[in-house]
Amino acid sequence: MISIRPARTADLVTLRALETACFGRDAWGEQALEGELAGVPDTRCVLVAEDTGASGSAGPSGPPGEISGAAAGGDTAVAGYASLLAVAATADVQRIAVRPDRRREGIGRALLDALLAEARERGCAEALLEVRHDNAAALAMYEATGFEQIARRRGYYHGVADALVLRLAPLGE
Ligand SMILES: CC(C)(COP(=O)(O)OP(=O)(O)OC[C@H]1O[C@@H](n2cnc3c(N)ncnc32)[C@H](O)[C@@H]1OP(=O)(O)O)[C@@H](O)C(=O)NCCC(=O)NCCS
Repeated sequence: MISIRPARTADLVTLRALETACFGRDAWGEQALEGELAGVPDTRCVLVAEDTGASGSAGPSGPPGEISGAAAGGDTAVAGYASLLAVAATADVQRIAVRPDRRREGIGRALLDALLAEARERGCAEALLEVRHDNAAALAMYEATGFEQIARRRGYYHGVADALVLRLAPLGE
């Protein structure tokens, strides 16, 4: 069973491993991750999705050649993490990352729902995020949640991929 809890300093190595496994050359380094955690709770919310219960904490192995959080040196119980920046009326979904060997189990959606619930609790009126135009999995998840494209930043990712700016508003109940 997966449960979602606030990230803590002890998770840093695991978050770093998830970043590398999920974002490659765009992965956040230790300093960036420390900065996220340092902003909790004032402007940030950082959550991890963790296996709990008797069904085992390691999860299945990833396909050959894929780097899992575990293989990259992280805690195998942590299947994903997410980070929110909330300032005044606007919440930015900064990161959602699920270990390659744990995708399509509903973990990304659960993390997104938890971030949006946090944004509502903080009184935010809208949520924004940026996503690569060719990131089909993330786009499908965000669109299914009600996010709509409001802008396109050409060449935003290393000059080779555009960023789509998506918005969800109002955040509702
Ligand atoms: C995007 C990401 C977080 C999704 O995580 P996930 O746990 O696999 O997603 P879920 O299982 O919760 O899926 C939620 C919905 O997203 C969509 N989705 C997820 N993966 C998909 C895929 N490969 N193809 C098409 N749709 C997909 C589906 O609509 C899915 O709902 P469904 O399973 O009922 O059809 C994950 O693929 C990931 O970590 N990618 C790398 C990092 C990244 O790109 N993060 C987002 C940008 S910040």
